[in-house]
Amino acid sequence: MCGIIGVLGEHEAAPIMVEALKRLEYRGYDSAGIATINAAQQLHRRRAVGKLVNLSDLLVHEPLPGKSGIGHTRWATHGAPTESNAHPHRTGPVAVVHNGIIENFHELRAELTAKGTEFCTDTDTETIAALANHYLDQGLAPRDAAEQTIARLDGAFALCFLFEGHDDLLIAARKGSPLAIGHGEGEIFVGSDAIALAPLTDRITYLEEGDWAVLTRTSVEIRDADGHLANRPVQTIQIDATRIDKAGHKHFMAKEIAEQPTVIGQALAHYLVPDGTGIALPETLDFAGLDRLTMVACGTAFYACLAAKYWFEQLAGLPVEVDIASEFRYREPPIAPRTLAVFVSQSGETADTLAALRYCQDKAQVAAITNVETSTIAREAGLNLPIKAGAEIGVASTKAFTCQLTVLALLALKAAHDRGRLETDALIDHLSALRSLPGLVNLALDRGPDIAAVARKVAEARDVLFLGRGAMYPLALEGALKLKEISYIHAEGYASGELKHGPIALVDKTVPVIVMAPRDALFDKTVSNMQEVMARGGKVLLITDAEGAREAGAGAWQTLIMPDVPEPYAPILYAVPAQFLAYHAAVAKGTDIDQPRNLAKSVTVE
Ligand code: G6P
Repeated sequence: MCGIIGVLGEHEAAPIMVEALKRLEYRGYDSAGIATINAAQQLHRRRAVGKLVNLSDLLVHEPLPGKSGIGHTRWATHGAPTESNAHPHRTGPVAVVHNGIIENFHELRAELTAKGTEFCTDTDTETIAALANHYLDQGLAPRDAAEQTIARLDGAFALCFLFEGHDDLLIAARKGSPLAIGHGEGEIFVGSDAIALAPLTDRITYLEEGDWAVLTRTSVEIRDADGHLANRPVQTIQIDATRIDKAGHKHFMAKEIAEQPTVIGQALAHYLVPDGTGIALPETLDFAGLDRLTMVACGTAFYACLAAKYWFEQLAGLPVEVDIASEFRYREPPIAPRTLAVFVSQSGETADTLAALRYCQDKAQVAAITNVETSTIAREAGLNLPIKAGAEIGVASTKAFTCQLTVLALLALKAAHDRGRLETDALIDHLSALRSLPGLVNLALDRGPDIAAVARKVAEARDVLFLGRGAMYPLALEGALKLKEISYIHAEGYASGELKHGPIALVDKTVPVIVMAPRDALFDKTVSNMQEVMARGGKVLLITDAEGAREAGAGAWQTLIMPDVPEPYAPILYAVPAQFLAYHAAVAKGTDIDQPRNLAKSVTVE
């Protein structure tokens, strides 16, 4: 989603901001722009539709001098991705960049229109600039105008204001969308995240919910929602953790797929006791005293929860409810006593997941599983279990998914042990099985070229079905999601047993049916469903292990053989062929793999 940068620097701000916006590209955007204040204290802006290269080209022909500025990558919500709707928005001397949605902008716009303000964009954001300008017209100083403006905004936002005539002033505000301040030497920066700010400074202050800040090159004044001075800590971040390069890969997604053995190993190492025979988790997680687990997430993280449901129920005998955050938050679900509510989010900023967490805060014990330990969800949950995947830049989640699964598997094992369903010896066996995963995932990565060859054929299809049973059913959903996201091929995931209740009507020789089926306890059932497809001329791509291929490979259109994997953990291993299929199909189609159209990495609006 939208990315924000603000600079009060010692050097020209435009190149610094364009570089920072490049680091925010991964969030997803469809236009970009910057505004600066030049030596004559004048405010000017440049904006361009499409990729940042268009803005850079524009700046070559029409440079934007000045050492103070704000910049933005926009993911369109209100108004098409046109130049006039691109940020920064300007009314009179006020320029503003915004991430989020102003829910009362219609009322504010009507009020200002009645007072004579003319609007020239379709955006909610222009209302913010217009309102601040209105307060300036009433004689307020910029900081007071910004304060009054912020107080009138409903909805979710991260904002940064720049005022003509004031080249040593930025005003930043946060409600619902993350924003950080970067402290330089005689310079100050504002950014949507640490990744944007990392090369500029390693000293960062995260604004908290409702905070707003008045910034100059030499001073930082942060106030909370009640207007009181707030003391927010300066954290030193590890620049390494925010390094974003492709390490020789063509795409971030390829790099992140390849990193999985390492990061799964990191996640395991974080939670396993040194001799590998136990799981170290915060003591407040008391699974023995629980009656129910509720897991809430969006997108890929939701599918990780769905897979984990099988583990919690089968291994730990713990009833589990899994829900999509955008549904959960408005359904007002009753939360039974002795419930643990777990919120899973790579970014830790997904607006719906955050709202669901807030709904549960006073009703259940809550925990978060996130990849960004400084994120809002991690901080508000209090109890955060990091997945240790490292920065994930490709919009389509890969390594975060397998790390989420790894952490959830450890939680399920801990729950099984705490609840007396798993003896210590059996727990040690399970942990040793989990420890074999980095090596097995490495072997699966070696099958990349075979999967690429099949993917090129899948890329010719218009529709694709994914089937799986048990914990492989969520994998079928994830496989279909990955393919849709980056190759734009229509794909659906189904529980194998549901095939005959509808989707079988779609089967013909043009529709690849991808069956994800290790030789497990449910294999024979899945094979029967596969036969039903083949009997109708459907072309089956069977992804299985060597034994599965021997038993059921005959008649399949294609067979991909994965390494043997201890049964419950197959979803972690089989994520690799699902990711590779999508990736190579997208390569064959020539799509924008790391930033697929219309998608955002961090979904900070509803
Ligand atoms: C977006 C991303 C997905 C991600 C989902 C949930 O749709 O493109 O990759 O799975 O949001 O994000 P979260 O950060 O909460 O895991």
